[in-house]
Amino acid sequence: MRVFIKTFGCQMNSYDSEKMLNVLIEQFSASVTENVDEADVLILNTCSIREKAQEKVFSELGRWKPLKIKNPDVLIGVAGCVASQEGDAILKRAPIVDFVLGPQTIHRIADLIRARQSHGQRQVDISFPQIEKFDHLPKTVTSQVTAHVSIMEGCNKFCSFCIVPYTRGEEVSRPFKDVIKEIVGLTQQGVREVNLLGQNVNDYYGQLDSHTGDLALLIHYVSAIEGIERIRFTTSHPKAFTKRLVDAYMEEPKLVSHLHFPVQSGSNRILSAMKRGYTRQEYMDKITEIRTARPNITFSSDFIVGFPGETDQDFQDTLDLIDAVEYDISYSFIYSPRPGTPAADLPDDVSLQIKQKRLKILQDKLAHYAQQHALNMRFKVYPVLVEGYDKRTGNLLKGRTESNRVVLFNGPKEAIGRLANVQIREIHANTLRGQFESMYQEKEAYVG
Ligand code: SAH
Ligand code: SF4
Ligand code: F3S
Repeated sequence: MRVFIKTFGCQMNSYDSEKMLNVLIEQFSASVTENVDEADVLILNTCSIREKAQEKVFSELGRWKPLKIKNPDVLIGVAGCVASQEGDAILKRAPIVDFVLGPQTIHRIADLIRARQSHGQRQVDISFPQIEKFDHLPKTVTSQVTAHVSIMEGCNKFCSFCIVPYTRGEEVSRPFKDVIKEIVGLTQQGVREVNLLGQNVNDYYGQLDSHTGDLALLIHYVSAIEGIERIRFTTSHPKAFTKRLVDAYMEEPKLVSHLHFPVQSGSNRILSAMKRGYTRQEYMDKITEIRTARPNITFSSDFIVGFPGETDQDFQDTLDLIDAVEYDISYSFIYSPRPGTPAADLPDDVSLQIKQKRLKILQDKLAHYAQQHALNMRFKVYPVLVEGYDKRTGNLLKGRTESNRVVLFNGPKEAIGRLANVQIREIHANTLRGQFESMYQEKEAYVG
């Protein structure tokens, strides 16, 4: 069985795609292919966060139609958040689809394929059997130095614009021992950096013996695992960012000096309409607290432009907030009404032209600060986690800084899979060029 899988959306979807592949490798001795023409099973792991993301599903399925006509034995599956939302409707709209599965039922992919092959009936399973999926997934096999680990599923925050609570369901945290076991397994394969994932990851409360432990405690546990050099966690909701988590930045040097901390808007009026649960001042206070705990930290954020009712002044408040925080590389989107969310019922009174204009202004400002961060890095030495040789240049090593910037440099092969001290020399469009200095000594004091 050769499997082609295309993934849209967030890191949790990437994690799920890897896991689906693992199930198919284990149960069918499947192999992965990058070529749709030679695939026996094609899977789309979908995202419905914005309208455009959702549309891509059906256009992609349209492109796969000739493959199914040519070979009716080819199996086509739709997974992820669009599957969760649409379910059976996908079968109606796209007759070439053989099976549909939601984010909570990825572990059943092999059963769905077998059922389709044996009874010929098209299969749909988008149920929410809580945390079951993690108990039924095989061990991840990886050759990478970095790995994602989903530590919780779902979201209870119900921001007024967001579809995630509907597609991923209620928050459920994995027990400590399961997360630790998975990470230990990853370190044995050479993983040195983990990104702990959850849509609202700081509301993690995992079972630990007869109690529950929070994300700060989990970070301390993960930090104690031999082989782990770096820890990230995404995505943080500002409201759930506890004092204990702030303290973790003082106590755990393995926690990276970079935080994705989505604010969405700098206007109190809009934050309230978005039901984000914090004010601009509360957000800024958190930033100050975190910076006090870890002075060299950099922040990134997501922004929504053109939320219903956003005035010029609201937009200006967002621009001012960006000036105050000076974010590193960040993400911004035009508001997209999602069916079934409360904001979709608000009058969308900002014209597309204004939304586009605001987005351009905002992105120019973000680009300015991102460039400023890169320029500030020049001639300083940073620890870089080396992933391997860069595919494009061939002879340069490729790695990432704590702030997730790609650095290319000439260095010894032994650096692969380890941390190296690299001096940043040149700033290119999407990468930095550096000069290898030395291998990074564990627990070395470092000021980035
Ligand atoms: N859990 C994360 C967000 C995950 S979705 C958080 O709370 O920050 C990723 C990003 O998509 C969001 O931060 C938001 O900026 C954007 N987004 C979500 N719904 C959207 C919508 N309806 N229209 C436009 N952008 C949206
Ligand atoms: Fe969506 Fe809000 Fe949950 Fe983030 S916290 S996933 S924006 S509902
Ligand atoms: Fe998209 Fe679902 Fe992730 S909507 S952003 S794939 S949780």
